[in-house]
Amino acid sequence: MKQIGIGLLGFGTVGAGVVAGLHRNRELLSHRLGVELVVRRIADVDLERDRGVPVDRAILTRDARAVIQDPTVDIVVELIGGTGIARALVSEALQAGKPVVTANKKLLAEYGEELFGLAEQGQVDLAFGASVGGGIPIIRVLREGLIGNQVQRILGILNGTCNYILSRMESEGAAFDVVLRAAQEAGYAETDPALDIDGFDTAHKAVILSSLAYGFHVPLSAVTVEGIRGLSGMDVQYARELGYRIKLLAVIRRDGDEIEVRVHPTLVPMGHMLASVNQVFNAVMVQCDLTGDTLYYGRGAGRDPTASTVIGDLADVAQGLVSRQPRHRRGVPRANQTLRVRPLAEITSRYYVRLMVLDKPGSLGIFTAILGRHGVSISAVTQRAVLQEGGHVPVVVLTHAAREAELHAALAEIQAAGVLGEAPTRLRILD
Ligand code: NDP
Ligand code: HSE
Repeated sequence: MKQIGIGLLGFGTVGAGVVAGLHRNRELLSHRLGVELVVRRIADVDLERDRGVPVDRAILTRDARAVIQDPTVDIVVELIGGTGIARALVSEALQAGKPVVTANKKLLAEYGEELFGLAEQGQVDLAFGASVGGGIPIIRVLREGLIGNQVQRILGILNGTCNYILSRMESEGAAFDVVLRAAQEAGYAETDPALDIDGFDTAHKAVILSSLAYGFHVPLSAVTVEGIRGLSGMDVQYARELGYRIKLLAVIRRDGDEIEVRVHPTLVPMGHMLASVNQVFNAVMVQCDLTGDTLYYGRGAGRDPTASTVIGDLADVAQGLVSRQPRHRRGVPRANQTLRVRPLAEITSRYYVRLMVLDKPGSLGIFTAILGRHGVSISAVTQRAVLQEGGHVPVVVLTHAAREAELHAALAEIQAAGVLGEAPTRLRILD
C-alpha cells in the first residue's frame, strides 16, 4: 500500500494525541483511505520527556527544519503553537512545496492572509480543521456542508478552558484560580493561559469562522474582545437567579452590508441550547438562509478530540496528494462583496448591569434618571439586601435593547455622580 510520510513539529499535548490516534486506528485508516499514514520524523525541544506514546527514538530530533527538509516527509504537521518559530516553519514548509496541517488559530488569525497566499502560490494544502472547536469538524461544515447557504449568524462557545472555568464556578462556586489550574492540568489551556481567559483564543477562532463565513479576511483588530478574567462569582450567581448562565460567547452576525464579530461574556437564557453546553464542551450554532439553525457540539479542547480533527485533515490532505488535487490551498472562499465590520459602539443589545450603589435615599433615582436621559430603558431592577463594605449594596439592572454607545455614556455619567462603590459591571444578554 502507498505510504504518506508525516513530519510532526511539536510533540506536546496535541502532537502526542495525533501519534497515539494514528497508531491506534492505523488499520482502520489505511483501509478507509487506501494509503498508509506513517509518522517519519518528530521534532520537539525536549526529547527526554515521556509523552505517553511509544515512538522509535531514532525519529526524534530537536531540529524542526530537518523534519521539513526530510525527503521522506510528505506532509508537515505544525503543533508547536504561537506566531514565532511556528510562522517561520509553516512558511518554510509551504515554500518547499509541502502541505501543512495545523491547529494554530493564533497563527492563522494573525498571519492567515500571508500563509494562505504562500499555499496558493505553491499550489499546496494548508489545512486547519482543529484550529476551531477541537473535536468538532466545524471548519469542514462551513467550507463544504453549508457552502450553498448565506450565513446569517454564528454563535459559538469556542474556548474549552473558559467554559470549564465558568461551569465549575457556577455549579460548585469554585474559585477562578483553582479551576484554571485544573484546566491547565487537563491539557485544555494554551501555553499562555491569558490567551484563553482574556478572550483572545476565542477571538482568533471568531476571525477564522467569520472569514470563512463571509469570504474575506476579518482583521483581528476589528474584533471586540472581552474575556472572563475578573468576572465575579456574584454575577455568575445573580445571572443564575435571573434565569441565565454566563458563557464566553463569540457572536458573528450579518446585518445588511455589515457584520458584527465580537467576543464577550454573555448572559444566555437557561432555555437556550447553548446554556446547556458545560465543562470543556464547545458548541457552534450556525444560522443560514436555507438550513435555518444548525448546532455542532463536542469537546472543544484536549488531546484526543483535537487529534481526531488533525487526523481528519491529514487524511484529506493525503488523498489530495494521491490524486494530485490540493483541497485546502485557498484559506477562505472568496466573497463577491467586502462587508464593513460594525464598531462596538454601534451594536444594539440588552444588558445586565450591576452597580454597587451607596445605600442612601435618592441613590436609585440618580442612576435611573441618567439611564433614562441616555435613552436606555430599564426592564427590571433588583436591589440585593447585602450591605457591602463602605455602605454599598448591589443593584442589578436589566435593560431593554439599547445602543452600546448610549449605555457606555450613561454608565460613565453614573460613575461620575459619586454614588457607586466601584466601577459598574456590564454584561450583554443574548436575545
Ligand atoms: P503544547 O505546549 O502541549 O505542545 C507544544 C510542543 O511544541 C511542546 O512540546 C513544545 O516543547 C514544542 N516546541 C516548542 N518549540 C518548539 C520548536 N522550536 N521545535 C519543536 N518543538 C517545539 O501545546 P498543545 O499541544 O496544547 O497545542 C499545540 C497547538 O494546538 C497550539 O497551536 C494550540 O493552540 C493548538 N490547539 C490545542 C488544543 C488543546 O486542547 N491543547 C486544542 C486545539 C488547538 P516544550 O514544551 O518543551 O517547550
Ligand atoms: N485552549 C483552547 C481551549 C484549546 O481551551 O479551547 C482549544 O482550541
